[in-house]
Amino acid sequence: MSPTRFDPIARAFQPEAVGSTLRVRGWLQKGRSSGGILFLLVRDRTGSVQVTGKKDALGESVIEAVSHVQVEGALEVEGTVALDPRAPGGRELRARAIRIVDAGAPFPIFTEQTEEFLLDKRHLAIRSVDHVATFRVKAQLLAALREFLAQEEVLEMTPPVLTGNSAEGGSEAFEFDYFGRPGYLSQTAQLYLEALLAPHERVYALTPSFRAEKSRTPRHLTEYLHLEVELAWCDLDELLGFIERMFAFACRAVADRCPPELAQLGRSADELRAIRPPFARLTYSAAVERLASQGFPVSWGKDLGSAEERALTLESPQPLFLTHFPREVKAFYMLQSADDPRTVEAADLLGPEGFGEIVGASCRETNIEHLLERLRQMNVDPASYEWYFDLRRHGNVPHAGFGLGVERLLRWMLRRDHIRDTTPFPRTPSRHTP
Ligand code: 4AD
Ligand code: MG
Repeated sequence: MSPTRFDPIARAFQPEAVGSTLRVRGWLQKGRSSGGILFLLVRDRTGSVQVTGKKDALGESVIEAVSHVQVEGALEVEGTVALDPRAPGGRELRARAIRIVDAGAPFPIFTEQTEEFLLDKRHLAIRSVDHVATFRVKAQLLAALREFLAQEEVLEMTPPVLTGNSAEGGSEAFEFDYFGRPGYLSQTAQLYLEALLAPHERVYALTPSFRAEKSRTPRHLTEYLHLEVELAWCDLDELLGFIERMFAFACRAVADRCPPELAQLGRSADELRAIRPPFARLTYSAAVERLASQGFPVSWGKDLGSAEERALTLESPQPLFLTHFPREVKAFYMLQSADDPRTVEAADLLGPEGFGEIVGASCRETNIEHLLERLRQMNVDPASYEWYFDLRRHGNVPHAGFGLGVERLLRWMLRRDHIRDTTPFPRTPSRHTP
């Protein structure tokens, strides 16, 4: 068989394909032989098709050899498309020739294995239908987010991941030895995006962020993909408008572009299409009052935990912006509110139905004295932020931005149980291999 041209397996299911000859190649999903006939399910990136092989067409030795190919072995098949109501999708490929590319060793993954085993074998487990569907949706989601940002004239930037200071709080930064000096894996690209703002005004980055949080929860990874946007001349109201439009755009794009994947994962496209701005906005102060009336032990000034966040959206099919947090519980760079100096111009976007935080957003503090005051309160040496203060000295303009956890968004969209299901090689406190 000449390796010059192969057909996508999906072609077997086009209306006019019946009776035509196809050449396909891919991986064996499952195989058996019965009464001297081979029944194979062969998968490529476009789908899978049943392949049948008979002795009179292939010869005894080929039947024998192919019957020893293991699950996830690789094959090339030439055959004729035929209707068969018993085959998946109602079609099969009746083989005239089969070439074994790799017969494969016995595949170690099958049903009813422990989660730990599957994580040890993650490099192979990612071939499962649920993982395949998830990472296809993730690719479409990233493409859609980039499309939206291009439409909005926001420019993609490439900030560093190796940095000399921690931006979100020292205790959760991964520290490493950078040629004898301390280095930190980036927790956020924000400070670099702020620097890129004066020349470009509207910028974003899609880069990994790292958090050395020991918390073992279904919503935390130690490495995640962070979409961060920074906009010049932007206030909180405009920023939240931008976020809700982007969120709804992403939901619609996934609903429109991924019906088979959503079906595979049991998720309804209509629920995604039903996400419509404007999203409700609730101040932290109002949330504390509401939670207190529901019996939560909350008091003004304390950060809300995941149980409180959950309670705020449990009944809502739409996301919710929680705004104007106490200044003390938030990052040093957030803008102090003009009408209430105890709060900052910031918002978290909470996913529907108790999902919790997906986006963290704020206007940025432009006053160096306020920045210094917060760093001192946090016992952080301002010296390493000297370059950041320069940004406040040269063309300091109002600006705002946000960070969205891509795996958090995907986990909500697909209703996956655990955030590690939304990334091929999850990094958690207990695991950084494979
Ligand atoms: O709220 P965070 O910490 O905000 C920032 O880092 C800002 N500097 C971003 C910015 O304004 N440019 O993180 C932003 C988002 C969170 O809302 C959450 O979705 C996600 O990042 N995130 C995580 N995702 C997975 N695992 C973790 N450990 C995460 N920590 C934060
Ligand atoms: Mg946050």
